[in-house]
Amino acid sequence: MTTNDGVIDGTAVAARIRATVGAGVQAFSAEHGRAPGLGTLLVGDNPASRTYVRMKHRACAEVGIESIHHVLPADASQEDVLRVTQELVADPRVDGVLVQMPLPAGLDPEPVILAVPPEKDVDGFHPFNLGSVASELPGTPSCTPAGVMTLLDTYGVELAGADAVVIGRSRTVGMPMALLLLHRNATVTVTHLLTKDLAAKTRTADVLISAAGAPGLVTADMVKPGAVVIDIGITRTPEGLRGDVDFDAVREVASLVSPVPGGVGPMTIATLLETTLRLAWDRAAR
Ligand code: GUN
Repeated sequence: MTTNDGVIDGTAVAARIRATVGAGVQAFSAEHGRAPGLGTLLVGDNPASRTYVRMKHRACAEVGIESIHHVLPADASQEDVLRVTQELVADPRVDGVLVQMPLPAGLDPEPVILAVPPEKDVDGFHPFNLGSVASELPGTPSCTPAGVMTLLDTYGVELAGADAVVIGRSRTVGMPMALLLLHRNATVTVTHLLTKDLAAKTRTADVLISAAGAPGLVTADMVKPGAVVIDIGITRTPEGLRGDVDFDAVREVASLVSPVPGGVGPMTIATLLETTLRLAWDRAAR
């Protein structure tokens, strides 16, 4: 995909993926007499989480994926969360299970992540799936870094031999992002909160990917002229959604930059739909 203005259109790329998934869902449903199913669990009433889950359900409905939704109150116990997660895993309509994170304070996400077996782990959060990514074996990578790879490929960004810098080392985003770039033979530097002289590192990047969740962190002086800049950070502020990247200024320096909203966000959801369909085909073949 080309661009005149240097701005990545994640909404357009995601729309194409959703159309392809929609056709795949029809084929699956015709062959198996049921729609692929996404099981979701929302615990508590975090407004951002509610919005994300609603957007995921809407996207599923648009392509013909069935949503099986459970809600628990913010004061649910660890046992309640595990029980409902296990119910979703056991539900024959469900091909992929998604427990919206973060869980309310006091609940431990780790046993919940482990309760979703790798073959139904649509988020790619299970350690087996992260290990599959690390090992370059088939498995489910986390949706956001996978969606970023699709964006980079769609825009023909050269990765082999490129210097890539990732800001953020989370298990669900920064770490798998770095691994996926490494597998494509980029030279990857992973930076984080304790990195000394972050700007000196980011200025080496041909491909700069920020997943810090720190609005305005990446300023124009931190970007090498002509670099590709991908903004994964999404923070709700009183002025609306803000990315990590100072978009207007960075746009003047970078060759390509992804906006917030309309960049990575729609790709995460499109990748979730793609993965749900793939898990459905895989399960039907077992
Ligand atoms: N919270 C923020 N992003 C995500 C995601 O991709 N999956 C889940 N389960 N929770 C999230």
